[in-house]
Amino acid sequence: MRPVDTPTVVNPLREGLGAERTPDPCTMVIFGASGDLTRRKLLPALYNLALDGLLPDKFSIAGFARSDMTVEQFREQALESVRQFSRRPVDPKSWDRFARGLFYASAGSLKTDDFHRLAELMARVHRERDTGGNRVFYLSVPPSAYSGIVEGLGASGLAARERSGSGWTRVIVEKPFGRDLDTARELNQELAQVFAEEQVYRIDHFLGKETVQNILVFRFANGIFEPIWNRRYIDHVQITAAESLGIEGRAGYYEEAGALRDMVQNHMLQVLSLVGMEPPIAFEARAVRDEKVKVLRAIRPLLGEDVARYTARGQYGPGWVDGREVPGYRQEPNVDPASTTETFAALKLYVDNWRWAEVPFYLRTGKRLPKQTTEVAIHFKRAPLLLFRDMVDPTPLESNVLAMRIQPNEGITLKFHAKVPGISVRIRSVNMDFLYGASFAVEPPEAYETLILDCLLGDSTLFARRDEIEAAWSLVTDVLNGWRELPSPVFPNYEAGSWGPREAQDLMARDGRRWRRP
Ligand code: BG6
Repeated sequence: MRPVDTPTVVNPLREGLGAERTPDPCTMVIFGASGDLTRRKLLPALYNLALDGLLPDKFSIAGFARSDMTVEQFREQALESVRQFSRRPVDPKSWDRFARGLFYASAGSLKTDDFHRLAELMARVHRERDTGGNRVFYLSVPPSAYSGIVEGLGASGLAARERSGSGWTRVIVEKPFGRDLDTARELNQELAQVFAEEQVYRIDHFLGKETVQNILVFRFANGIFEPIWNRRYIDHVQITAAESLGIEGRAGYYEEAGALRDMVQNHMLQVLSLVGMEPPIAFEARAVRDEKVKVLRAIRPLLGEDVARYTARGQYGPGWVDGREVPGYRQEPNVDPASTTETFAALKLYVDNWRWAEVPFYLRTGKRLPKQTTEVAIHFKRAPLLLFRDMVDPTPLESNVLAMRIQPNEGITLKFHAKVPGISVRIRSVNMDFLYGASFAVEPPEAYETLILDCLLGDSTLFARRDEIEAAWSLVTDVLNGWRELPSPVFPNYEAGSWGPREAQDLMARDGRRWRRP
């Protein structure tokens, strides 16, 4: 998250928002340079940063992957990816400038020799582009390859800790970061043997979303919400990440992951920590992450019978989504026809601290739900409605809700009650709406743009720290263990295009509440 500098160029739309800083010259080494993530996200993000003049002149990318390719072929492939996935069209002049900074070497099977080849490539890039010795290693590879790469970087001296005058070194690690608490700890340990914690950037792309960052701005840049942001005024919180998409051909990964690992351990718990945290003493990495991790640690563990009582899981069967007939999860290509992987998860959590004692946080996420929508809904306690008991139309008054829409339709809605115009007093719920699109006529950057730039600037505020990852895994691992001990669920238990399994509705109904229809 970049601090605000004094503006140098005045664009009326951004007036007062501050100019951006430019990182030091550096080389980004991408492991897995011919993979899907690099093509869809990394190269387009880097190109868009270049287009906005946010990368240093000498910025270079050293692609390193198994495919045998020449530099020219890599540049050609990169152009194709950017054409296909960039949020803005390719401008030939900017592309030429960007492409001059693209280099490539084949990674082989990541043996010692391969790291020597990488060292040679980096030395060449450094000579030709004068990158000041600064480098970022981006691990855009399947998690099974992390250990070997980290070890290789250590053994080859490429990850050497920062020494004065030799430039800085950072590493970006993609998700999934482990598959339970033990494996996450192991990976953290392996990283710690080669890198200092300040050099490690664990990416969670949700933190790069404008609307997720805005949770902090909304809470801490306004005076009127913080005083009511606690158990005295808030009845409960609902965090929903609904997707209408299925698993999009990612069976190999998803069968092993499931909704809890794929969405809850990282994205949803990160959002929860931003909603629940105390005001940090400063807007910088350490202070913000100190407060976030306190929230994660304060979540009451789900153990024993609580797992069945406070969680629900589901798997979609065939159905209709967006007017299209879609297969069930078990019928997706490469999915085990008897798979018990969950494609839906709902949890009720308590954050056991003074601010949130006894305020439930309900989380739900699922694939093949009726629509694509991610939101945080703060449900306030009801007013004592004695005065208006008989004047409500058409149904009893609901409580006030503040809904922060993360995506799409980014914005914030406050639901409150108003008098229906007329001689008699009739009351109805109305919405007060803020829409990003209408208020700021600028297209927001992609999450990866924000995060990559932050890493190049050395700002890790929006990256998960070691203790955050472990606290989140600790909670999720308890649930995974609890699920393993319960009788096998009868899957599929929700139809594609519905709002998830009955169990998720029951979870709410037991508390006399229901899920909000986003
Ligand atoms: C990814 C998950 O981390 O996040 C995907 O692996 C999921 O399964 C995606 O679809 C959701 O991200 P976004 O930005 O599309 O909401």
